[in-house]
Amino acid sequence: MSDFIFVTCQIGAEGAVKGELARRWPAFRLAFSRPGFLTFKLPSIHRLAEDFDLESVFARAYGFSLGKVTGKTPEKIAADLRAGAGRFSGQYFGQTPEELAAGVWKAAEGRPVQRIHVWQKDARAAGDRGFEPSLSEEASNVHRLLVEACPHPENLVRGGVARASCPCSGQHWRDASATQAARAGESVLDCVLLTPDQWWIGYHRANSIPSLYPGGMMSLELPLEAVSRAWLKMEEALRWSRLPIPRGARVAEIGSAPGGASQALLARGMWVTGIDPAEMDPAVLNHPCFTHIRRRSTQVRRREFQKIRWLTADMNVAPKYTLDAIEAIVAHPRVSIRGLLLTLKLTRWDLAEQLPDHLDRIRSWGFNVVRARQLHHNGREVCVAALQQPFHRKPFLGQRR
Ligand SMILES: C[S@@+](CC[C@H](N)C(=O)[O-])C[C@H]1O[C@@H](n2cnc3c(N)ncnc32)[C@H](O)[C@@H]1O
Repeated sequence: MSDFIFVTCQIGAEGAVKGELARRWPAFRLAFSRPGFLTFKLPSIHRLAEDFDLESVFARAYGFSLGKVTGKTPEKIAADLRAGAGRFSGQYFGQTPEELAAGVWKAAEGRPVQRIHVWQKDARAAGDRGFEPSLSEEASNVHRLLVEACPHPENLVRGGVARASCPCSGQHWRDASATQAARAGESVLDCVLLTPDQWWIGYHRANSIPSLYPGGMMSLELPLEAVSRAWLKMEEALRWSRLPIPRGARVAEIGSAPGGASQALLARGMWVTGIDPAEMDPAVLNHPCFTHIRRRSTQVRRREFQKIRWLTADMNVAPKYTLDAIEAIVAHPRVSIRGLLLTLKLTRWDLAEQLPDHLDRIRSWGFNVVRARQLHHNGREVCVAALQQPFHRKPFLGQRR
């Protein structure tokens, strides 16, 4: 078992990750840090399983670290070591991508690898000049190299990977699985590309939903008919949270315009009430299962929520405003909400420190399952999923006179 873990996160979220780990895992020591990528040294005795839960909102992906392979010269590596960096086992250097790939397998020697996840650390902050974290072509190329160099290809799970004959290089693995999800229980080799010639190696056992995907990034394709990118956020939130919202459920979405998120809900057979003073896209407005209340949430009469069991919110306001608005609804004696899916905007990164208090506040409303994650498709914001399990409807109080 390795003495280090690695974490990848959004650029800008490093401070939030360090803060979370200092609170939850005070014995972990920061070892190496670059924007979007961190490693921590573990205490000598730890009982972390290969599928351990880091309990971090801001870690998009994590695992045990096996160090790095690098295209640097031996002199540069010696200088790094003198400076105290890179003291990891499995260090290897090579000049070509093929040599680096061989180095990865040397570092991972003896590990039973069933699946390979390769991703690039984020190049820029999410949303900066349109940047969206994603699985790059470079990551896909390195994935292919690693599959080809794998010393025990018979162990790799074949889903999406097919043997094919290539006239130029003979038998090789045609890679169709660079973006494919692992299955729970599979042993995954992780390779994070920090730069084209610095690859960090790690491993984890797939278990949680994000751990199934390379870099914790769900490869969702925005449908042509989606009216906003919020579709991606809602779709990922639904898949990550696994909230048991049945078809035919009544959902209210606060901050619904122009309507991408509502489209994701409508496509799953839900009845959606969108609450937003701004205009909805006609494609959503005209859907037979959609109703628009063109007001701010505070201006909506409570009886509008009487049949609603699920509440989502994505308002471009500070977290406290969102939580005040939600509390005013869920705490009402005539309203029975079973689950929440909230986007909390971090107008400043230091607001991340208040997140544990926000989650406690949500628990105090009667939601006993409360989780948060900075989703792949989130900007500087986090998604909170809350569920009342089992669900107790508030007693019917009769009509108000
Ligand atoms: C990020 S956009 C929502 C995107 C939307 N979910 C979608 O799927 O396209 C934020 C929205 O919050 C709305 N908003 C801000 N304050 C609000 C409030 N108090 N009540 C309802 N909507 C609000 C804004 O009008 C804006 O349309």
